[in-house]
Amino acid sequence: MKYDSTSLKLPIENLEAKDYLPLNGTDYIEFYVGNAKQAAHFFKTAFGFQDHAYSGLETGSKEKTSYVLKQNKIILVLTSSLISKNHINDHLIKHGDGVKNIAIWVDDSRKSWKETTERGAESAFKPYTIEDENGKVVLSGIKTYGDTVHIFVERSNYKGIFLPGFISHTSEYQPENTGLKFIDHMVGNVGWNEMDTWVNYYKNVMGFAQLVSFDDKDISTEYTALMSKVMTNGNGRIKFPINEPAKGRKKSQIEEYIDFYNGAGVQHLALATDDIIGTVSKLRSRGVEFLQVPKSYYNDVMDRVGEIDEDISPLSELGILIDRDEEGYLLQIFTKPLMDRPTVFFEIIQRKGAKSFGKGNFKALFEAIEREQENRGTL
Ligand code: FE2
Repeated sequence: MKYDSTSLKLPIENLEAKDYLPLNGTDYIEFYVGNAKQAAHFFKTAFGFQDHAYSGLETGSKEKTSYVLKQNKIILVLTSSLISKNHINDHLIKHGDGVKNIAIWVDDSRKSWKETTERGAESAFKPYTIEDENGKVVLSGIKTYGDTVHIFVERSNYKGIFLPGFISHTSEYQPENTGLKFIDHMVGNVGWNEMDTWVNYYKNVMGFAQLVSFDDKDISTEYTALMSKVMTNGNGRIKFPINEPAKGRKKSQIEEYIDFYNGAGVQHLALATDDIIGTVSKLRSRGVEFLQVPKSYYNDVMDRVGEIDEDISPLSELGILIDRDEEGYLLQIFTKPLMDRPTVFFEIIQRKGAKSFGKGNFKALFEAIEREQENRGTL
């Protein structure tokens, strides 16, 4: 859908976040995938997610199956179709495996839907109540960039494991978790000239404020460029950076994403840890592939970021990047794409005071991504 900023009923000059919904935090992230059973195995084995809940033929769900995985506060839902023709398969054909639903935990789902649709959001589905012996959940949905949907989840009257229709799911195979704690931020890639449309959407429809702004001069290499703006809700628990491609000599990673995803969509989920060296060591030993910056990155990084608590040698061995802002520093690393198409990936992040997103690393990082694009023949 195209969000039309001319249909807005509110002035757009309000820069302060207006927390009229309010949003309590991320509830879950739902991926539509070709084979949910195998995808669940991958996220358990590689990233240390734990079995949590399940719905499928055994629970009376005849058209789709979902595996719900959990690691601390992060909940991933992996959903596949059980029949040949439905919207899940349409989504798969168009986008490949990717994020469909970004579910947000709210106190009042009906009010959230009403407020946002009145402010110009297109409804994905109207509020409805589902219930089982554990109580009631109210769900509603609005469309955002591409075919992505925000679901408002009201679960204060529910005591069950996940949502009505789901049963608790455990397995004897349960790899140890890797220390991933919560979703720090979630990034969307949108098409040419669409960034401001979606920035205004988050501002006006969701009541978000803009945190940081980069332009293509901030984030460019010899070949490629992008523009990025970070939107956040009032309590700061939800941060959505929005990227748009910018003109460069060659195809940028954002453009490559848009080509393979066939439009806008979620580019990466940043997962927070409080021990990035431990977490990344575990992930690497389980076969997770990361973007590799050249060793020369570590030659002058200390001059740029100053003193940090960690030894540089494990950071350098693991390929962890460092950046500093006025409030502190952060450590981060990016996986290679999680799917066959070069689309969605994870960032692993540890914040030591910094509230920014690693702008100082973008150049080194993009050059690493360009080497991957070169290998794929898509630069
Ligand atoms: Fe990020």
